[in-house]
Amino acid sequence: MRVLGLETSCDDTGVALYDSDEGLLAHQLFSQTDLHIDYGGVVPELASRDHIRKALPLIRAVMQEAKTQAEQIHGIAYTSGPGLAGALLVGAALGRSLAYAWNVPCVGIHHMEGHLLSPMLEPDPPAFPFTALLVSGGHTLLADVQALGQYAILGESLDDAVGEAFDKTAKLLGLGYPGGPAIAQAARTGNPQQFDFPRPMTGTRKTHGAHPGLNFSFSGLKTAVVTAVQNQALTPEFIADIAASFEAAAVDVLAIKCEWALEQTGAKRLVVAGGVSANRKLRERLTQLAEKLSVRVYFPRPEFSTDNGAMIAYAGYLRLAAGQHEPLSFGARARWPIEELGAV
Ligand code: KG4
Ligand code: ZN
Repeated sequence: MRVLGLETSCDDTGVALYDSDEGLLAHQLFSQTDLHIDYGGVVPELASRDHIRKALPLIRAVMQEAKTQAEQIHGIAYTSGPGLAGALLVGAALGRSLAYAWNVPCVGIHHMEGHLLSPMLEPDPPAFPFTALLVSGGHTLLADVQALGQYAILGESLDDAVGEAFDKTAKLLGLGYPGGPAIAQAARTGNPQQFDFPRPMTGTRKTHGAHPGLNFSFSGLKTAVVTAVQNQALTPEFIADIAASFEAAAVDVLAIKCEWALEQTGAKRLVVAGGVSANRKLRERLTQLAEKLSVRVYFPRPEFSTDNGAMIAYAGYLRLAAGQHEPLSFGARARWPIEELGAV
């Protein structure tokens, strides 16, 4: 089965073709970074318009690269939420219309399920069940994953997502958007111990009575950075030290919560995905943790940590192969709890 995947939930237009026998045949991504950079963040209306401009040329390019004619495509998958409503509707309308024209089944995919399954595009993919850490610009969550669609949330952020904290810190330091890679780059020459930033909700679990649990909170960390930066000259050394200390705090929190989650689930596999999973320090830290706990850790290739069409094509293949597809109507959900998916 050969499936075309479309990702248009935010500021990347991603298109890919996945084949159940041959694997990933081709994928293309157009990042809108240059379009939004002057605004310091994504402007929804500009994002929607650019998806309209880029999606069809990318689909043509992917089909050409994969030497695939329309008749060879057996199904279409598009991201139907969560994300920016207008941007989602571009992918939904296009995916649904192509499926109608080509007379093939079509399925709307949950963006975070796409991320969750993205390590399965790599050699030696993880098998179910596993514990997952999903870290992106809009989500920070730990989930117990039993099978496709069976996701129980163990913990999530009560305020900012971790990627959002990276983005806001970068903005504060004048590093621009998107913030995660900029912080990681600036942190390379900084001292991670220069500022003792808080590790929210990781309190000493034994001495403090109530266990802080598996939820996250990143607003306190953000406030601590704001306070440290106030009235300071933003020299390159200062920026590097703030970036390194912030990154160390964020990575610490994620690693501590992963350890607790793995203790709770007893899982032998940890899957880490979403934009922040591209972070090198986080990968190193979780690889060490996995060794310590005799657990195997799985990441997508860094290119597929951030938004892409390949993960949507793959999730679409799994769901279409399980017999799921949708009627002619289509929709998009700006908000969509992943737990609502259910088994297929
Ligand atoms: O998954 P993604 O591409 O889009 C969403 O679904 O949100 O994640 C984007 C987020 C942004 O907040 C970005 O700053 C962050 O992932 N990110 C990183 C890195 N690369 C991207 N954060 C930390 N380190 C990175 N290397
Ligand atoms: Zn994403």
